Amino acid sequence: MKEHKILIVDDEQSLVYVLKKLLENEFSVDTASDGEEAISYIEQNEYLAVFLDIRIPKINGMEVLSYTKKLSVEPSVIIMTAQNTMVNAIDAMKQGAYDYITKPFELDEIIDITEKIKKNKYPIHKVSEKSEDFLDTLLVGKSKTMQEVFKTIGKLSHNNLTVLILGESGTGKELVAKAIHLNSARSDKPFIIVNTPSVPSELLESELFGHEKGSYTGANEKKDGKFIAANGGTIFLDEIGDMPLNLQAKLLRVIQEKEVEHIGSNKPVKIDIRIIAATNKKLKSLIKNAKFREDLYYRLNVIEITLPPLRERKSDISILANFFIKKFAEEFNIPEKQLSEDASSFLQSYDFPGNIRELENAIRRVMVMSPSFILNSDDFRVILDNENAVINKEKYAKDKKTDSDSFEDIIKRRIKNYVEKIKDTEANDIYKSIMNLTEKTVIEEILTLHNYNQLKVSKLLGINRNTLRKKINEYGISLKNFKKIRNN
Ligand SMILES: Nc1ncnc2c1ncn2[C@@H]1O[C@H](COP(=O)(O)OP(=O)(O)OP(=O)(O)O)[C@@H](O)[C@H]1O
Ligand SMILES: [Mg+2]
Repeated sequence: MKEHKILIVDDEQSLVYVLKKLLENEFSVDTASDGEEAISYIEQNEYLAVFLDIRIPKINGMEVLSYTKKLSVEPSVIIMTAQNTMVNAIDAMKQGAYDYITKPFELDEIIDITEKIKKNKYPIHKVSEKSEDFLDTLLVGKSKTMQEVFKTIGKLSHNNLTVLILGESGTGKELVAKAIHLNSARSDKPFIIVNTPSVPSELLESELFGHEKGSYTGANEKKDGKFIAANGGTIFLDEIGDMPLNLQAKLLRVIQEKEVEHIGSNKPVKIDIRIIAATNKKLKSLIKNAKFREDLYYRLNVIEITLPPLRERKSDISILANFFIKKFAEEFNIPEKQLSEDASSFLQSYDFPGNIRELENAIRRVMVMSPSFILNSDDFRVILDNENAVINKEKYAKDKKTDSDSFEDIIKRRIKNYVEKIKDTEANDIYKSIMNLTEKTVIEEILTLHNYNQLKVSKLLGINRNTLRKKINEYGISLKNFKKIRNN
């Protein structure tokens, strides 16, 4: 008789078969194909672990999980899910699952998990119920790369490993750091952010490590610093690439010794923190240029999470856009709006140099500015169409030339440029020159468009035909020239 029992619950027979074969060598294995059967097995046996699918007939996996929580001897439940969304992972963790894995999984993952359970290396963490502000930090994304990120966040909830988050500006580094914290057993403890570049370098040391009273001029009171403030919780060192070298050395000591010393004190204080660092800089090249300590890099980079730029996971763009539409509708107390298909493809074709933050800001603006219920590509072009736009050539090249911006926007931009150019001249007829130029251009363009049919053009412009003739003369608009240009 084997020492431990394991239950596998899944309605997918082939998966049950493979898993059973793998675990049978070591454990005595039962299998169930629906929730009811699972509960009846669990009632009658003491399992070390239950491998549990979420979507199973009769009683769903989450309910089976919560059933196990009522038992006096809880099995470790490993959720197996095909739709690995953040929400599922978080739900599973919140309800006290031991771990979760995504199908299809590697057999090695299963071996690792069972090893861990046997050694009971990581006690079961009951991640506390989160307040509504948890929703604010919810990460959205269905792309493969984001799913990998969610999975890593889930795995990190069981341990205290140091994490280095890499990614361009606006890719969600801070949000991921917060999600790691909130999904860990430290979630009730502080999450302290240190934004390195925003603290003047002469204050950064004391900000981080604290100081004793009188340790330097201006240190009138004893101060604890952010490491101590984060004790028990998580410290997020944002833009770590900007940390001065002398502080890098001190930080290294904190990580190694797990203690901090106030400036002006030689009594180290033990601390228990998780460290998460982030940067959008290439740390490797900073190391090459002796701007970043290599040893610190390896200390921080125990687990590395790289957040892909939005343009490399276009499948997330619409999901994120809809997520922000919902969010701002609630925030501004206005009805949710709908993205037109054309708006969706415009957003897909844009390269988002500012990543998710740029998308979020764009949605915030259109939600406020656009009067209509349907959000069209033009609503976004006004905001987003700049030199960085990578426009889908076939589809948009034509539109772009004619109406890529709202009329108002084009005029504003042109006039702004013009005013900028002449700001240092001593002109005294700016009004007149802009108005004349505008009037002349409008008349010329409409005449061209309508083959010089003055009657039609005067109607279109809403001015008298004589007035039009007068203007043509006044501005020296030449009929002949026009015909020539048109024929070219
Ligand atoms: N996956 C996501 N789902 C929903 N919102 C997100 C996601 N990622 C980022 N955001 C939102 O995008 C904005 C930018 O994210 P965040 O501040 O975390 O980026 P960052 O990488 O730290 O940027 P920076 O380098 O500029 O500091 C935030 O408002 C955040 O809430
Ligand atoms: Mg940030």
